[in-house]
Amino acid sequence: MSVARYHSQLRQSAAERRAETHPLTWRLREDGAMVGLDEYVAKDGYAAVREVFDRQSPEDVVATMKTANVRGRGGGGFSAGMKWSLTMKGPDIPRGYLLCNADEMEPGTFKDRLLLEQQPHLLIEGMILAAYANHSYYGYIFLRGEYVDAARSLARALEEARAAGWLGRDIAGSDFDFDIVLHTGAGRYICGEETALINSLEGQRANPRDKPPFPGQSGAWGKPTVVNNVETLCNAPAVMRHGADWYQDLSADVSEDGGTKLYGISGKVVRSGLWELPIGTTGRELLERAGGMRDGRALKTWLPGGGSTGFLLPEHLDQALDFDTIGELGSRLGTGLLTVVNEDQSVLSLVRNLEQFFARESCGWCTPCRDGLPWTVKLLQALERGEGESGDLELLDKLADDLGPAKTFCAHAPGASMPLQSALKYFRDEFERGVAPPSHAAQADSTPGFIHQQVR
Ligand SMILES: Cc1cc2nc3c(=O)[nH]c(=O)nc-3n(C[C@H](O)[C@H](O)[C@H](O)COP(=O)(O)O)c2cc1C
Ligand code: SF4
Repeated sequence: MSVARYHSQLRQSAAERRAETHPLTWRLREDGAMVGLDEYVAKDGYAAVREVFDRQSPEDVVATMKTANVRGRGGGGFSAGMKWSLTMKGPDIPRGYLLCNADEMEPGTFKDRLLLEQQPHLLIEGMILAAYANHSYYGYIFLRGEYVDAARSLARALEEARAAGWLGRDIAGSDFDFDIVLHTGAGRYICGEETALINSLEGQRANPRDKPPFPGQSGAWGKPTVVNNVETLCNAPAVMRHGADWYQDLSADVSEDGGTKLYGISGKVVRSGLWELPIGTTGRELLERAGGMRDGRALKTWLPGGGSTGFLLPEHLDQALDFDTIGELGSRLGTGLLTVVNEDQSVLSLVRNLEQFFARESCGWCTPCRDGLPWTVKLLQALERGEGESGDLELLDKLADDLGPAKTFCAHAPGASMPLQSALKYFRDEFERGVAPPSHAAQADSTPGFIHQQVR
């Protein structure tokens, strides 16, 4: 069932993936088929749940997650233990909801898909642990609509888990009740933003919500709600089974962040795909594992973690791919899936393509995003045709700035700004080449550049 057919898959053999070093992928089969309940249980599956229920309180689980320093793999890198601790407070038990963000629509990103299609029981086990820690009584998996194979795998796994008593009332004799609903989205990028996701789940238009209150205070249906990415939740079983120190040790040589990361590469490399490696592995190692650049072309630039991250240069390849290091370089680790660009490719066209995507996916609530992104696309298209005008680059600088942090209701606009701003910084000459030489008529026109741009 559910054999992966797409080109982007795990590129590590079963011999390389071991329980001690590859907590996310060691159980995956060579044939790419889903790991069913029997096989999952035979490979130590649900052992973490049993152990936690036997010996640990919700507070213990949160403390272990904090010490392990599992940082959110959805792109923000927020500590999962810290997030879980926020919903611990309050008198009501059960308290609220656990939402798994499986909307994965970030350009160049396909990591959650692997886990969802091939190992849904790992996610279910992670969700049980998170729900126990947060006193949640219901969980939802918000799944990207186009992931039909993942929907099939998840539906089967949920049924298996329910039949075996891993979901429902009194799980494993623990007195703890928890069940999960699979909710398929309609395929909008903005539904991945956690508060838009909540609105969509409630049947409302998928606009992000104003914050505060944050979901941990008041989320789905007004209840305290934890929203976590698929990969984040999939880390919980190994952390609880083997402890925070073991998890930290997995990446101790290369990063302060704990554990492994499901990294990936796509673009002009010999073989795109996914690899589970210690978090903090370098981009160079990843590129080598991908067989290097295709057709002997040189690397021009790369995005470290999806379309909403900033471009980096070949000289950054030896930096650790972790949240703080990539942040210090002016970009973001994001999803940790690299998009590689070669010397023949146009960064201008790539950015135009990305901004077209972001413009289309804007929810339209804030002006810089709703109006600024289509305007940006128009300017980039003109530059691509060689019909840009003097002042266009300065205008793009201003638009990128207006899309930046703290100027809009959600991080969609700052995400759209990152590739634009970094491309203007590193590849300005490409943009400059798109400005047409001034014509006689234009030279005679005394209209100030900025006003001229606005009315054209
Ligand atoms: C426009 C936009 C799209 C997003 N899409 C996703 C997504 O598809 N999956 C995801 O896990 N997080 C996505 N996020 C981040 C979520 O808002 C949220 O931070 C994340 O689900 C939290 O999980 P984590 O702490 O486990 O990373 C998106 C954010 C924005 C602004
Ligand atoms: S930044 Fe864009 S996507 Fe986010 S709320 Fe504003 S208009 Fe909507």
